[in-house]
Amino acid sequence: MAGNIMKADSVKIADGVYWVGVLDWDIRNYHGYTLHGTTYNAYLVFGEDEIALVDNTYPGTSAQMWARIKDACDKEARVASLDIIIENHIERDHSGALVELYRKFPEVPIYCASTAIKGLKRHYPTLGGAPFKAASTGTEITLGGKTCIFIEAPLLHWPDSMFTFVNEGGVLLSNDAFGQHVCAAGRFDTDLPEFVLTSVAQKFYANLITPLSQLVVKKMSDLQQRGLLDKIRIIAPSHGQIWTHPERIINAYSQWATGVTKYKATIVYDTMHYSTQKMAHALAEGLISEGVDVVMYFLHADERSEIVKDILDSKLVLFGSPTMHNEPFPSMGDIMYYLRGLRFDKTGKKKLAVTFGSKGWGGGATRKLAETLSACGFDVLQELEVSYVPSDNDLAQCYDWGRQLASKMRE
Ligand code: FEO
Repeated sequence: MAGNIMKADSVKIADGVYWVGVLDWDIRNYHGYTLHGTTYNAYLVFGEDEIALVDNTYPGTSAQMWARIKDACDKEARVASLDIIIENHIERDHSGALVELYRKFPEVPIYCASTAIKGLKRHYPTLGGAPFKAASTGTEITLGGKTCIFIEAPLLHWPDSMFTFVNEGGVLLSNDAFGQHVCAAGRFDTDLPEFVLTSVAQKFYANLITPLSQLVVKKMSDLQQRGLLDKIRIIAPSHGQIWTHPERIINAYSQWATGVTKYKATIVYDTMHYSTQKMAHALAEGLISEGVDVVMYFLHADERSEIVKDILDSKLVLFGSPTMHNEPFPSMGDIMYYLRGLRFDKTGKKKLAVTFGSKGWGGGATRKLAETLSACGFDVLQELEVSYVPSDNDLAQCYDWGRQLASKMRE
C-alpha cells in the first residue's frame, strides 16, 4: 500500500478489530482546548469477506495510520486493502485522510450519516463524486462473520455524529463520545492511573459535551431500549484510551450529564494588586475548614478549558475580580463567554455561585460578574466586596463567608 513511509504497530482490541490510529505527541492546543498530545483513533474491522476502516486521522498525519493498517493486515494474513470506509464524524481530526482514501480506493463505499455527506463535500470538494452511502440508525452491514450496526448520535457532538457497533465482540466505536485528549504509550484504560484517566475524560466532557448533557441521557436510554447497552464489552472512542471496563465511563457520563456534583468548590480569580487574591485564599481556608474540596485557578496563567473541567463536578463556583474601568478584570471575559456557551445548567441542576473582589472607589465588578453568571444558569448566592486592601477583619470575614458557604453547600 502506498504511503508506508514508517513502521508502526497496530493493536488488537478484540477478535478481528484493530486500532490503527495516530499518536499525536506534540499538539498542545486544539481550537482553544489545551492538551498534552492526543490520539486520532481509527479502527480496522476484519470480516471473513471484507475489511472496513472506521474513521481516519488529522490531515497530514496519515503515514502512521497506513503503517498500522499494513501491520494489522499482516497479522491477519490479509492483503492490505479496504472494502468499506466508515466515517462516524465529519470533523477534520477524523476525516483528514478521507481524500487520500478515496484516491486509493475510488470504488469503495463511504458510509456516514446522511447529514455528513453534504458536510464532507463542503470540507473536501474533491469528494463530490465519491460513493457515499447514507447510514441511519439500525443500518447494518455485514463483512462476513462481523456485523457493523450504525447508531446515529446527532449533536454528540455534531449533527453528523454517529456510532458504529461491531456486534460480534460488543465493540462500540463511539467517535468523540467517551473520548479523552491524551497521548500515552498504552492504548487501554488500564494503561493509565485512574486519577489521570478520570481527569482527561472529565476535561473532555466538560469542554465538548456539557451543553449536550440532555442528549447524553437520551442516547443512553436509546441504547438501553435497543438492547445494546448491555452488549457493550469495549468502548473504543476516536481520542485517547480504549475502555475495556466500559461501565467506568458510562457511569461517569451518567453522573456528569445529570449534574451530580461533589462537595467541591472551584475558585477562579484574577487580581490587580493582590487584594482579590488575599480574599480568594481566605475564602478557600474557610471552605477547607469545613471539609470542602477546593480547587483554585489564577487567571494570570490558568485557562478556560482546564477550569471548566473542575467546574463540572463542583457544587459551588467562586469568581473573584477587582474592578477596572467599572468592569471586571478583562481576563474574566474569556471564561464568562465560555460559560455562556457551555451552560452547565443543561444538566438540569444549577450550580451555586459567589462573586467577590476588591474595589477602589466605585466598584461594580462583583455585580456584573453575578449578572453574567445568572445569565449563564448559575444560582448566585452572594457578592462579596472589600475596599482597597483587605484588613485583617476583612480576611476574617472572608474566612467566615467560606464556612457559611460550606454550610449552604450541604443544604
Ligand atoms: Fe474529535 Fe469532533 O472531533
